Amino acid sequence: MLEFTINGEKHQADVPPDMPLLWVLRDVLGMTGTKFGCGIAQCGACTVHLDGVAVRSCQLPAGRVGDRAITTIEGVGNTPAGAKIQKAWIDLEVIQCGYCQPGQIMSAAALLASNPAPDDSDIDAAMAGNICRCGTYVRIREGIKHAARS
Ligand code: FES
Ligand code: FES
Repeated sequence: MLEFTINGEKHQADVPPDMPLLWVLRDVLGMTGTKFGCGIAQCGACTVHLDGVAVRSCQLPAGRVGDRAITTIEGVGNTPAGAKIQKAWIDLEVIQCGYCQPGQIMSAAALLASNPAPDDSDIDAAMAGNICRCGTYVRIREGIKHAARS
């Protein structure tokens, strides 16, 4: 039995330690906001925070999480940076189909929490691993700047 702290709440899951955290979140705990895209750490759809750091949950064995706090898209709006990013995404209508956006928001929130005034190169570096098939990259960049100004 593994124990996790997710969005401030304790959860237990009877899963093998090598099961990817993404599987635990979606299939065992029913938290389906975090998306499956590629499964090989190439698209960013599965991004969550571990102690505030953006990580790809599809390639993170559940047994390696330890006592680090997990934040998912379901809870990131309760953090100051996450709330600003989500408001900016709504204000600027960043989203198109939406599939990649939980991961985009998680990466953007981690960036804003660590760098309250990111420039274009900071944004490009932080968001490089998040793929959007709909090509919302320009609005994502503007959304992060809008959130930083708010
Ligand atoms: S599903 Fe994890 S990076 Fe694509
Ligand atoms: S909004 Fe459709 S994949 Fe990004």
